[in-house]
Amino acid sequence: MTTIDVTPARPDEKPVLANLMQLYIHDFSEHWAGMANGELQNDGRFPAYPHLDAYWSDPARIPLLLRREGVLIGFALLNDHAHGGVAVDRNMAEFFIVRKHRRGGMGTAAAHAVFSRYPGSWEAAVARRNLAALAFWRKAIASHPHVRDIEEIDISTKEWNGPVIRFRILPLA
Ligand SMILES: CC(C)(COP(=O)(O)OP(=O)(O)OC[C@H]1O[C@@H](n2cnc3c(N)ncnc32)[C@H](O)[C@@H]1OP(=O)(O)O)[C@@H](O)C(=O)NCCC(=O)NCCS
Repeated sequence: MTTIDVTPARPDEKPVLANLMQLYIHDFSEHWAGMANGELQNDGRFPAYPHLDAYWSDPARIPLLLRREGVLIGFALLNDHAHGGVAVDRNMAEFFIVRKHRRGGMGTAAAHAVFSRYPGSWEAAVARRNLAALAFWRKAIASHPHVRDIEEIDISTKEWNGPVIRFRILPLA
């Protein structure tokens, strides 16, 4: 399988994440037709991701850059937010693979590398309209070699609307 390098982003790499986040928000804006969010500003950019700074001050938040053969292909942002009220070690807050590298197994390889780096209890919450991501996460989670106790719930509250997949990743022996 493809090897993806997963590297915590240094504070001086915050602008790298901010740039990638623009691409991510553009992708997500497809799901926001008819909603207020996802509008461009007059400078041609989307509003900055509100929690980005916290990824270098809150120890529960981890910013990760994803590279293949030294080339940046995406990012992952982890926190410990539990959508369903059951505490988890990690939540896949955001995850992105640049379009050029999609549908070639990079997302799966990157997700597996991230899970393996942080064993424990996990959640991945998927926005209801993001059907591609749901298909992706179901498959990527189930195919991790050390996954256990996969459970999918559906949440429809003010705070979250969509499926949430909970699972556990065992540490490598
Ligand atoms: C979702 C995402 C990470 C997938 O990355 P990827 O590198 O294309 O994933 P993979 O190639 O490993 O895909 C593995 C499987 O997931 C499913 N999948 C991936 N993209 C899909 C799509 N657009 N539609 C339907 N199924 C999809 C397929 O079953 C695929 O296997 P296949 O290509 O053999 O059919 C990428 O499309 C992305 O960054 N999207 C925008 C951001 C996003 O939605 N992030 C998730 C937030 S919860």
